[in-house]
Amino acid sequence: MHAEITEELEEYCEAHSTPESDLLYRLNRETNLKCIKPRMISGHLQGRLLSFISQMMRPKRILEIGTYTGYATLCLAEGLTDEGRIDTIEIDEELEEIIRRYFSQSDYKEKITLHVGDALQVLKQLDATWDLVFMDAEKDDYIAYYELVMPRLRQGGIILADNVLWSGKVIQTVKTGDKETRALMKFNDYVLADERVKNFLLPFRDGIMVIEKL
Ligand SMILES: C[S@@+](CC[C@H](N)C(=O)[O-])C[C@H]1O[C@@H](n2cnc3c(N)ncnc32)[C@H](O)[C@@H]1O
Repeated sequence: MHAEITEELEEYCEAHSTPESDLLYRLNRETNLKCIKPRMISGHLQGRLLSFISQMMRPKRILEIGTYTGYATLCLAEGLTDEGRIDTIEIDEELEEIIRRYFSQSDYKEKITLHVGDALQVLKQLDATWDLVFMDAEKDDYIAYYELVMPRLRQGGIILADNVLWSGKVIQTVKTGDKETRALMKFNDYVLADERVKNFLLPFRDGIMVIEKL
């Protein structure tokens, strides 16, 4: 048996992890004070995990699908090579002001391109070979994002798909009309059956599917 990760235990984990930078701390705080659904932000611990993975990979090109207020973008950018770049896509125009305000204060501002629009449309226009992809937007569209990204993911490239446990609903009886849980269950099965990749489902926070292209 493993310890259940209670709020207190998560606080203990945060207290025993490298602190957020001042910029990330302020963005996290402003998001929680002013934005709708602040639970969507990656936050301190997940941010450190994303930064750690990015720093191990040293990617040249990163793609994030679903920017929200840009917290994960800034964490992922920490691992970019000197010439590296990150593209991030957000559909909600109302978030653009806060996103750009924080990006402009970051050491990585020259490396970040924000695309405001529907990821399914923007993805078709982006021409790049991705090393690392963080998938975190519309849950119903995860398979569509995956199929759009896969041809342009380099061999050995990594996709991280967030929220694949959906608060544990993926192992419960699915309520009528709950499209998101069904879509995530379908996505998890789809990745497992895909012979182009190897994967593992990391039970961290809301579940991260870690996928490597063979
Ligand atoms: C969970 S939040 C992203 C959190 C962010 N990646 C982070 O870790 O802090 C999901 C975001 O995806 C955006 N989104 C939803 N549907 C989208 C779409 N079709 N295209 C682009 N962004 C979308 C939402 O507006 C929301 O801001």
